[in-house]
Amino acid sequence: MAATSSAEAPKIVWNERQKRFETEDKQAYLQYVPRSNGKVMDIVHTYVPSSKRGMGLASHLCIAAFNHAKSRSISVIPTCTYVSDTFLPRNPSWNSLVYSEDLKSNI
Ligand code: COA
Repeated sequence: MAATSSAEAPKIVWNERQKRFETEDKQAYLQYVPRSNGKVMDIVHTYVPSSKRGMGLASHLCIAAFNHAKSRSISVIPTCTYVSDTFLPRNPSWNSLVYSEDLKSNI
């Protein structure tokens, strides 16, 4: 499981206009680019201010983005290395949403 032990999960907001999932103060965010007419979410960048790193905030941003994608049947491209190298290996159940060439014919 993710190494997140904070009692309360931070509130993550979907900023549709800027194509981000972000904390209410907007200081931490996950940036994505919609592809294939919005059927694919390419997560290109995740950012957490240095003073707040190592507490699982980036994983909360990812969970918000993956839940959003799942509820809309959107596939995810993990371009950001935090997502590909840290979040997905630690939360492998989300791999089912990762875009694969096999899905290409459907989008
Ligand atoms: N790529 C992959 N994994 C990374 C990473 C990176 N660039 N930077 C840090 N990590 C890993 C660390 O190994 C750390 O592991 P640990 O828990 O064993 O120490 C883990 O992320 C921490 O997870 P979490 O607490 O959920 O992340 P965070 O809230 O500290 O935020 C980043 C992680 C990457 C978003 C943050 O360090 C950051 O904003 N870095 C600068 C921007 C950046 O490099 N973004 C990623 C590439 S787009």
